[in-house]
Amino acid sequence: MPHNDLLTIARDIALRAGELAKQRRSEGVSVAASKTSSVDIVTEADRETEAFIRAALAEVRPDDGFYGEESAAETGSSGLTWIVDPIDGTVNFLYGIPHYAVSIAVVEGEPDPLTWTALAGCVVNPALGEVFTARLGGGAFLGDQPIRAAASVDLSQALVATGFAYDSEMRGVQGRLVAGLLPLVRDIRRQGTASLDLSFVACGRLNAYFERTLNPWDHAAGALIAREAGALVTGLDGLPPSRDFILAGHPDVAARLEQTLRQLGL
Ligand code: IPD
Ligand code: CA
Ligand code: CA
Repeated sequence: MPHNDLLTIARDIALRAGELAKQRRSEGVSVAASKTSSVDIVTEADRETEAFIRAALAEVRPDDGFYGEESAAETGSSGLTWIVDPIDGTVNFLYGIPHYAVSIAVVEGEPDPLTWTALAGCVVNPALGEVFTARLGGGAFLGDQPIRAAASVDLSQALVATGFAYDSEMRGVQGRLVAGLLPLVRDIRRQGTASLDLSFVACGRLNAYFERTLNPWDHAAGALIAREAGALVTGLDGLPPSRDFILAGHPDVAARLEQTLRQLGL
C-alpha cells in the first residue's frame, strides 16, 4: 500500500478520534487510574479513544500490528505496526488546557524506535483543529500547507522546549539540567505534549526540543513530521531517538544543543 494511503488512514482516524476526545473533554473529565506514579494518570477518555482508534484500524488494516499506550500490543503479519498515543498531553486534557493531541504513526519493522522506519504520521490537536502530517519522503504539512523547521540560530536566540518524566527522582535530574540550560538560551517551554513539541519544531514555532524517558508512542508520528520538515531528529551519539533521549531542531542548532547538554552533564 503506498505511504499516501497509509497517511490518509492515519489522518482520517486521528481526526475522528480527536473529535471523540474533544467531545469527552466538553462533558467533563476525571482521573480513572494512576499508572507508573501518582501523577501519571489515565482518564476514561484515554481508554475510549484508544479503543476507537484500535477498532477503526482493525477494520481497514486487519493484518497490521498495534502498539498503543493504553492497551496490549499485538503483532501483525504485514510487517507494519500502528503506534498510537490516543491522548498525548493527558494532564493538559485533564485540566482543560487546549494543548493535547491524538498521535498516530505507522512503522515498518519491529515496533522499536531504534530500528523501525516510520512511513506516515499524523498529530491532531482537536482543541485548535490543527492537523500535522507527514509521510516518508513526502514532506510535512500543517493542514494543507507545507511546513519547514526554523533556520539556524545561535543557541542564545533559540526557543527550546523540553518535558519531564512522571518519576520524581528523574524530574530532579531533568530540573537541574534545565536550570543549567536556561541562562544559555532565549527561553524554555514545557508545554506538556511531546507530539506537539515535535510538530512545533516542524513548523518553526520552536527552535529545538529535547526530552528523556519518552515512550515510542510519544514521538513516533512527531519525529517523522519534524524530520520531513527538515529538522534533525536524533538520540544520543547519532542513534535514533529512544527512551534514552530525543533531540529535534535545525541540524546546526541540534548539534550545538547536544554539545551544551553534554557539558551540563546529560
Ligand atoms: C506525556 C507528554 C509530555 C511528556 C511526557 C509524556 P502523556 O505523555 O507527552 O509532554 O513530557 O514525557 O509521557 O502521558 O500525556 O500521554
Ligand atoms: Ca504521551
Ligand atoms: Ca497518552
